[in-house]
Amino acid sequence: MGPGPINADPRVLRALSAPLIGQYDPAMTQYMHETMQLYREVFATDNTATLLIDGTSRAGIEAVLVSLIKPGERVLVPIFGRFGHLLREIAERCGGEVHVIECPWGEVFQPEQIETAIRKVKPRLLALVQGDTSTTMCQPLAEIGAICRREDVLFYTDATASLAGNSLKTDEWGLDAVTAGLQKCLAGPSGSSPLTLSSRAVEVVHGRRHVEAGISSGRDRLTDPGARIRSNYFDLSMILDYWGELRLNHHTEATSMLYGARECARLLINEGMENAIDRHALHGQAMVEGLKGLGLEMFGDQAHRMHNVSAAVIPAGLEGEGLRRSMLEDFGIEIGTSFGPLHGKVWRFGVMGYNARRDTVLTTLAALEQTLRRGGISVVGGSGVGTALDFYSDQALRGHA
Ligand SMILES: Cc1ncc(COP(=O)(O)O)c(C=O)c1O
Repeated sequence: MGPGPINADPRVLRALSAPLIGQYDPAMTQYMHETMQLYREVFATDNTATLLIDGTSRAGIEAVLVSLIKPGERVLVPIFGRFGHLLREIAERCGGEVHVIECPWGEVFQPEQIETAIRKVKPRLLALVQGDTSTTMCQPLAEIGAICRREDVLFYTDATASLAGNSLKTDEWGLDAVTAGLQKCLAGPSGSSPLTLSSRAVEVVHGRRHVEAGISSGRDRLTDPGARIRSNYFDLSMILDYWGELRLNHHTEATSMLYGARECARLLINEGMENAIDRHALHGQAMVEGLKGLGLEMFGDQAHRMHNVSAAVIPAGLEGEGLRRSMLEDFGIEIGTSFGPLHGKVWRFGVMGYNARRDTVLTTLAALEQTLRRGGISVVGGSGVGTALDFYSDQALRGHA
C-alpha cells in the first residue's frame, strides 16, 4: 500500500506469461493496433499517435522531451515536488533552455501563475506533472491547455501517478503529449510507458524525422541533420514509423510488456474510466478518513490531493522508518515515506490499481493501529477501521459505494 509499484492485477500477470510471438507476426501487429485503440480510450483522445514506449515511466518522459525539445529551445517547468525536478533535469539534458517556477511542496499552481510565467518566458514547451507522487498533490490542468494554445506553446504532462485514478482529458484539455506508467492506477508492473501525442506534437516530431541508414530508402534524409533527435532509442519519429503503417523496424517491441499493458487498458475500459476514477476516489478517501480516525494529521492541500495517494504527518517523537519496517515485517504491508524535504516527515499510502479496494484499506488501517500503539502512540481501539467503515456506509447511503 505504498505510492507504487503496487500489487499487479492477477489478470495482468496472467497476460504477461502468454507465449512469445515474432514482432511482425500478424497477431503481434494486431495486438499493437488494439493496444493503441485501448489507450486512446484511457487517455480520452482521438490521437492516432498513441503507443507504448518500452521502459519505465521515465522512458516515456525522455522520449517526449528529447523528441520535442530542440537544443536551445525554451522550456517552462513549474515544480511542485520531486517529479517536476525530474522534468527539469531531463529537459536540461535534452539541451533545452529550462526556466522553472516553484511552489511549496503540498501545494499546486493557480492557472494565472502559469500564464504569467508563460508570458514572461515565452517557452516552446510547458512540461508539467499532473500528480506529483512525492507530495500527493494533483495539479489542475483543465484550464492550462487553452493558455498554451493562445500563447502557441506545446503542453506536455507526466500522468504516471494520476492516470486512471483522477480525471485526465487529453483532447478536451488541449494536451499535446501525455505519458504514463503501468505500476500505479493501471494495476500492472513497471516497464512500459503508454504515451499519446497530438497532431501538433507529431508535426514537430515529423520535422525531425530520421531513418537509420541500414533501413533507409535513401529518399528520406533529413534536410537539416542538426535537427535529428539526440537519442536513437527514444526517437519518436522512428518509434512512430515502427508503430505506424510503415512498420519500419526500430527496437524489438517488448512482447510480454505489450501483453501486460494491453490487459491493463482492457480491464480499465471494461470497468469504465469514470468508474475506475470513482473507485480510486472512494477507497482513497476511506483511507484518509481512517488515518484521521487514528488521530493522524494529513499533509498538504487536501482539496488538491490525488485520489490515489495520501500522506500523513509522522507524529513527533516516532521513528517513521521503524514503523514502516514493522508494517512490512508483521503484516506484509508496505507503506512509503517520501523524498527531499518530506523524507522521514510523512508516510505515504497508495490506494490504487488492484489495491484500490475496501479490504486492503481496512486491513492497512487495522495493522497501522497496532503498529502505532506499539510505537507508543495512544490510539482509541478500532478508531481507524471504524471511521473508514462509517465513511463507506455513508457513501453507500448516498449511492456512491
Ligand atoms: C509522477 C511520476 N513521474 C515519473 C516517475 C518515474 O517513473 P519510473 O520509476 O516508472 O521511471 C514516477 C515514479 O514513481 C512518478 O510518480
